[in-house]
Amino acid sequence: MNADLVQLHEKARAALDPVHYDYYAGGVGDEVVLGENEAAFRRLALLPRVLRGRSTRAIGVDLPGGRLDLPVLIAPTAFHRLAHPDGELATARAAAAARTVLVSGVASTVAIADVVRAARAVDADAAVWFQLYPHPDEDVTECLVRRAERAGCTALVVTADSPVFGRHRRDAEHGFHDLPPGLAAENMRDLPGSPPGHVRDIEMSPLASWAHLDRLRELTSLPLWLKGVLHPRDAVLAVEHGVAGIVVSNHGGRQCDVAPAAVEALPAVVDAVAGRVPVVLDGGVRGGGDIALALALGAAAVGIGRPVLWGLAADGETGVARVLDILRDEFDHVLALCGGRHLADLTRDLVVTRGTGVL
Ligand code: FNR
Repeated sequence: MNADLVQLHEKARAALDPVHYDYYAGGVGDEVVLGENEAAFRRLALLPRVLRGRSTRAIGVDLPGGRLDLPVLIAPTAFHRLAHPDGELATARAAAAARTVLVSGVASTVAIADVVRAARAVDADAAVWFQLYPHPDEDVTECLVRRAERAGCTALVVTADSPVFGRHRRDAEHGFHDLPPGLAAENMRDLPGSPPGHVRDIEMSPLASWAHLDRLRELTSLPLWLKGVLHPRDAVLAVEHGVAGIVVSNHGGRQCDVAPAAVEALPAVVDAVAGRVPVVLDGGVRGGGDIALALALGAAAVGIGRPVLWGLAADGETGVARVLDILRDEFDHVLALCGGRHLADLTRDLVVTRGTGVL
């Protein structure tokens, strides 16, 4: 892991209530996948190309729903006001200043309209995407989509890897089930079928199907990303069902603990999609080298979850800005060392497995 990020992580750990730290840091079950997401990157290496002298590099990328100035977006994570009083407002400002996308979660502790407003106050063109789970009550899903549209979100991200909640041992041991008084999942307030002011629980939908995805797609003209895809056949189905992009993700090791490391699932999904839609990877990205590996294996960009929470807890907006800066700077440096000028110079033939020298 990048040493500056390690320092921010330690600062965050010291600043956070240990129960909240474990909520952010923990994973499902025995936390096998949590560890593997990072370990799998360390099993990979890049073969640099030489004598391709260039003075500058282009590291921006256009995706359905917005442009990123660096190939890193902020993955949706819940409850940012547990990390810092400014919560998602701080995250949104830092993302907008870095000219990247914040995927704001349905489980945010600031309402989506306020999140987008904070981003646009920094950059009038800031792109904020909205993540949601298919809710068992489709009226609720529709209401959330309309809120995201009215707020000015430029894409929707549907998380498909959560038909049921992951069982997080650390939370169970701490008895952590509810937000502290004063904090709420603000997007769930005043939804259909609830009394005024009431905040509905975030629910998973064990019956969610491709038909739900179709109805969502018909509901909105926003580009629809599908998050939580690991099987190449699901990637093909997603393309056939009209998604604008796919996020290869195991939810940061928080859902299925027999899943592979995210980066290990990436190449087969990229092959199955065959360039028809962009593929983003998240899970275990902790430095510029990880970003370069993911892009060489075919990702258009990566998402980061926990590093943003550590930046936020350590130093609010400044901390999140620092995380993005560190990653931008280190990735650009790695690209230079590999003889790359454009993201497209990172190709799969550069990737080898440590210990064998071949992929
Ligand atoms: C998440 N993640 C997540 N994903 C999602 O689609 N909806 C959500 O509400 C959440 N909530 C959430 C909370 C916390 C505390 C974490 C750590 C993660 C998963 C997230 O989007 C992403 O897939 C992972 O965090 C990526 O892995 P890293 O970067 O944390 O290793």
